[in-house]
Amino acid sequence: MSVHGRDVRHLIAVVDANEKHRQTVAEAMAPAYRTNAYGDAANALSGMRQSLPQVVLVGQRVGSGLGTNFIKDLRRESALSNIPIILIIDKEDIRILDAVREMGINKYFVKPYRQIDLIRAVTLKINGEVERSWQSLPQKQRLALEKTLIIFNNILEDLTNGNPISYKAVDHSCAAIVDAINENDVSPVVNRVKDHDNFTFAHSLRMATFLSLFGKGIGLPKDKQILLASGGFLHDVGKLAVPAETLNKAEKLTPAEWKLIRGHVAISQKVLAISENIPKAVMTIATQHHERLDGSGYPLSLESKDLNQLARMASIIDVFTALTDRKPYKRAMLAEDALEMMTTEMSKQLDQGLLAKFRATVLDLAGTEEPAESR
Ligand SMILES: [Fe+2]
Ligand SMILES: [Fe+2]
Repeated sequence: MSVHGRDVRHLIAVVDANEKHRQTVAEAMAPAYRTNAYGDAANALSGMRQSLPQVVLVGQRVGSGLGTNFIKDLRRESALSNIPIILIIDKEDIRILDAVREMGINKYFVKPYRQIDLIRAVTLKINGEVERSWQSLPQKQRLALEKTLIIFNNILEDLTNGNPISYKAVDHSCAAIVDAINENDVSPVVNRVKDHDNFTFAHSLRMATFLSLFGKGIGLPKDKQILLASGGFLHDVGKLAVPAETLNKAEKLTPAEWKLIRGHVAISQKVLAISENIPKAVMTIATQHHERLDGSGYPLSLESKDLNQLARMASIIDVFTALTDRKPYKRAMLAEDALEMMTTEMSKQLDQGLLAKFRATVLDLAGTEEPAESR
């Protein structure tokens, strides 16, 4: 799960006297989250003081006492009192539920529950915390993150219901990204979204930001910067139809899984084709960002003669964004290291003249570490 021994998944604490349930939860969480499991209150509190979890799952009984009493202990420790809690109880018990509601806990599961629902609830809690942390950002940066998140969730709903995408709404929210870019400091946007566990949202927002930043770098006007941001934001929309388990899988992908992931381009194309007012540039970004100058890309194995400047920009930014994204199975790579790798190892695949221009634009933005395959 870890890359070079470093695990980048968020940490979840499971506090439950029931050993079997502790193990079941830890196993269920494993693809997406690290877990520390504790059977009694004293161990849990000291363990959590050392390794602060992002969410705590509390069972009906903790040690020889009640889970609700443990929650009270937890709330008395200032360093631990704000960690989101999810309660898992053996059977619906109104007294327990009243007690936890009074403590401000609104999420609980009654056994038997579906593991996928628990994982989703944990992700929601983590994302809730990340989104709350955006509130401290300057207004332009905060709006870029908040507006695009709302639109991204709407798109997911549209896709689920087979509805077209509202391009107007995308264009409007992407204007907030361009506003942030023109304030001269967009690094909080591309860095703060990294902890969000909706990885496709984080990737899409970062792609949108870097692509329009690139546009600004080569002197394009604001309306073209918005167009690039919108294209970047929608470029992987088809990934919303690919199971997250496959997209975020840490282990080597099987040929069937690769096929599924590569199929996102065709899905994006279909979704955009049924939506109104999609500019041609947005379609080009969505359909050609995985093509490579030497013909090694997909889905059409296009070559340099077929790829215009926009397609070349899109593929550069998609690779750069994927390398500098955080994923459950990898740390983010430093911007400088990503650019170096793209120059040396991908010299025949990416337009090196454009890459040099992008390098100049982006190097002052902060990045983090570690390489991974671009999907
Ligand atoms: Fe893609
Ligand atoms: Fe992408």
